[in-house]
Amino acid sequence: MDARGKKAVVIPEVVLSSGKKMPVLGFGTGVFGKTPPAQTLALILLDAIELGYRHFDTAALYGTEEAVGLAVAQALERGLVKSRDEFFITSKLWCPDAHHDLVLPALKSTLQRLGLEYVDLYLIHWPVRMKPGTTGVPTSKDVLLPFDIMGTWEAMEECSRLGLAKSIGVSNFGTKKLSQILDNGTIPPAVNQVEMNPSWQQEKLRDYCKGKGIHVTAWSPLGFYGAAAWATKPLIDYAIIKDIAAAKGKSVAQVILRSIIQQGDVSAISRSFNKERMKDNAQIFDWELTEDEMNKIKEIPQRRLNAGDFFVSEDGQYKSLDDLWDGNP
Ligand SMILES: NC(=O)c1ccc[n+]([C@@H]2O[C@H](COP(=O)([O-])OP(=O)(O)OC[C@H]3O[C@@H](n4cnc5c(N)ncnc54)[C@H](OP(=O)(O)O)[C@@H]3O)[C@@H](O)[C@H]2O)c1
Repeated sequence: MDARGKKAVVIPEVVLSSGKKMPVLGFGTGVFGKTPPAQTLALILLDAIELGYRHFDTAALYGTEEAVGLAVAQALERGLVKSRDEFFITSKLWCPDAHHDLVLPALKSTLQRLGLEYVDLYLIHWPVRMKPGTTGVPTSKDVLLPFDIMGTWEAMEECSRLGLAKSIGVSNFGTKKLSQILDNGTIPPAVNQVEMNPSWQQEKLRDYCKGKGIHVTAWSPLGFYGAAAWATKPLIDYAIIKDIAAAKGKSVAQVILRSIIQQGDVSAISRSFNKERMKDNAQIFDWELTEDEMNKIKEIPQRRLNAGDFFVSEDGQYKSLDDLWDGNP
């Protein structure tokens, strides 16, 4: 039951290396296309809160921090939750702020937009540094600078020590970059948030992270399933999943999300701004996929859906996707 006595889904939690608990199903707010105005998005997020979502994923890049903050404030006002501590809010450092002295100011700006005193998790969005002040993803390779991995991480550690980020982590990091932080840093990354879906199951990276106590979170877990515009091309062959879904009386999205979470050491951030679909996506905790069904999904041909090509440049730090992804392009 939630604070108003309505029945909501209870999403299980995982304990991170920081000792903090994180719900294993998060709600994404990053949109490829037009982001709804903050007030409109806040109402959508309130629907999600009513349904039981407590973990929200935003980023300086997405322009959705204000909406997340509004939703948290309105949920408290409406009595949907009793305290801010019931939420798990993640935000991310965008590449032009991946400079040692810009990290703390960037987090302070994020907190201001959120209207919060701390984030539960702060992530380096990509292992990429851009010229300060650059907006959006790079449209010219001239804005890309060599990534100062330890200078950036030390500043992230400072955010943690100041209590402004309860946990710190990274996103889109391969194994070499993770080991650099583990070897040279003081606080290990609690989370590595990466693309993970039936088309890119991240077996190697997951094995590495499991051995090092780094929790892996899946972004684009549905592989943009149902998404419009550039994502309408058939990115994943969903035939196998459709068969499993039909046999179990579940939706394709539910089977995909369940197949990720059922692995036990992984969480997922899914996004739907449609109330029925966000509800559907959360109904994955009271049933299971069989070993045979899980194995069938493992057989789906593998390729990344979003490789981050815009960060690769012949005269830049990452000369190939192989460089960017530490040999696992
Ligand atoms: N760290 C990173 O670099 C990074 C990169 C990408 C994304 N992310 C985070 O991960 C979140 C999720 O990724 P994503 O938004 O790319 O992908 P996703 O959750 O895999 O897919 C979202 C798309 O699937 C549709 N959808 C959702 N539930 C559905 C259902 N039950 N049936 C049919 N269609 C459904 C949504 O449309 P409707 O809204 O119409 O339902 C939306 O178009 C983002 O919002 C963002 O917070 C992080």
